[in-house]
Amino acid sequence: MIVIAIDGPAASGKSSVSRRLAKRLGFAYVNSGSMYRAVTWEVLRQGADPASPETVGAALSRAEITCGIGEDSESFIHVNNASPDASLRDGHVNRHVSLVSAVPAVRELVSTRLRALAQDRPLVMEGRDIGTAVFPETPFKFYLDASPEIRQQRREAEGGTDQIAARDQMDSSRKAAPLKIAPDARFVDTSHLTIDGVVDAILDALRPFGIVPK
Ligand code: CDP
Ligand code: CDP
Repeated sequence: MIVIAIDGPAASGKSSVSRRLAKRLGFAYVNSGSMYRAVTWEVLRQGADPASPETVGAALSRAEITCGIGEDSESFIHVNNASPDASLRDGHVNRHVSLVSAVPAVRELVSTRLRALAQDRPLVMEGRDIGTAVFPETPFKFYLDASPEIRQQRREAEGGTDQIAARDQMDSSRKAAPLKIAPDARFVDTSHLTIDGVVDAILDALRPFGIVPK
């Protein structure tokens, strides 16, 4: 099993870097954040209180959640046989995703699905706890970061109103699998790097292990 874990706070560059890295290596790309966003979207759709772990757990047990890797070699998630993709970056999902992600039953469900995806093929997987909790045994761990100002600017440049500082604070302080740097992760400050610059730095670190672009 080969998993390249890419963790870090919001707008550190995880998605852009992970997708490009996966393409270069010929690996599949898994976005775990979109799975937490999809669960949050469903909890809110059901009208469940995102602040109540019991209610969130009950909402979860009423939903049919399917994950896989599509023909484009990227992960997908379906809720009740439909794709929630178009809604995953909506304001109400942004505002509640950290709360819902802190519920242990949610983390257990998503983590189990993520581990199953790695059975069949090599992956680049991005998230908050991939190197610390989902695949703690992988030797390939990277932690991306950038200054809070640069990260907020990046999100604003995308046209969003996402208040990432509040999410970072909640994601770092929760009890279950908080965002933190794994002791054996390689830290990459992306503040002044291009996306390709970050990808190249990661590829340099992987080369000695025989993991090279196809
Ligand atoms: O793209 P961005 O970094 O803004 O967020 P994301 O990766 O889509 O993740 C959205 C939210 O999902 C995070 O703020 C976390 O609350 C949660 N998440 C998590 O708890 N664990 C993960 N492995 C990935 C995301
Ligand atoms: O997945 P995450 O929230 O960590 O970040 P992202 O969605 O990949 O990146 C957020 C924004 O920052 C995107 O618009 C990227 O194009 C941009 N970015 C950048 O300008 N320079 C980097 N080194 C990485 C990302």
